[in-house]
Amino acid sequence: MKKVLVARPTFPDVIERLKQYFEVDVNLGDVLAQDEFARRIADKDGAFTAGEWVGEKELAGAPNLKVVSNMAVGYNNFDMKAFDAHKVLGTNTPNVLNETTADFGWALMMAAARRVTESEHYLRAGKWQKWSFDAFLGADVHGSTLGVIGMGRIGQALARRAGGFDMRVIYHNRSRVAPEIEARLNAEYVSKEDLLKRADHVVLVLPYTKENHHTIGAAELALMKPTATLTNIARGGIVDDAALIVALRDKRIAAAGIDVFEGEPDFNPDFMLLDNVVLTPHIASATEGTRRAMANLAADNLIAALGEGPRAGNPPNPINPDVLKK
Ligand code: GLV
Repeated sequence: MKKVLVARPTFPDVIERLKQYFEVDVNLGDVLAQDEFARRIADKDGAFTAGEWVGEKELAGAPNLKVVSNMAVGYNNFDMKAFDAHKVLGTNTPNVLNETTADFGWALMMAAARRVTESEHYLRAGKWQKWSFDAFLGADVHGSTLGVIGMGRIGQALARRAGGFDMRVIYHNRSRVAPEIEARLNAEYVSKEDLLKRADHVVLVLPYTKENHHTIGAAELALMKPTATLTNIARGGIVDDAALIVALRDKRIAAAGIDVFEGEPDFNPDFMLLDNVVLTPHIASATEGTRRAMANLAADNLIAALGEGPRAGNPPNPINPDVLKK
């Protein structure tokens, strides 16, 4: 039987599915230290990861490894050059999380705009003595301008929802999306600078790459309206968190909704000093149905890539399909 590592706990029935095909080594404990992860994959044919770093050292030390299946759409934890060099397939879990993640982008944006968590903290702290006409005045979402940076599948799901709020949608992306998609979403392609100047609510939904590092830094924040909000449901590192903290502290922008952080699960502690930011621990795809779909898709990829199951040899979501060619 081929051997696979499940690097961190997942749904027990998904592990049972894997056990039908493989000898499974499951880590049921804390996230593995990098050396321990490398040691545990060294004798494996495949691995199921959810954010573990997989690079040259890990792949060079695992000569039998054929596939690493990431339970996430983002795969910036994979060094794809090293995957290609070692002819190891990487897979991810696109599509199944689009709508859930878009829902959460809206939740964070609206919570930031309407000061939901800030006012809840005030209430919980026992500070609510009277109703006041000017307490927690926020920014309207309906009728405002939504700026989406990253118009991929999740960005499009997010923009689609803006129709119900009578919003204008502007977007920036590496390249323009097809005219029929623009027309359907009623979305206008603009430069990043224009978007930052015009949007009332900016939402980041782009993948993390070296080029996208600090897409939003001090210079970009300075272009935004002082009444605007910024929501990051993409990846830590796309925003310069230290610059964002300064902008929020100085009220350069009104508020932010942040689900992903540089260095997470550690994060810049100065975020905690601010009232005008909604902070969540990387949960944009976290519903029972979607996380199950992601786990099962990651299992499908692993099973198929190791030549088992109904799609043997034809995993649904290869990132580097060239390595599958004989
Ligand atoms: C979550 O962050 C994902 O990339 O799926």
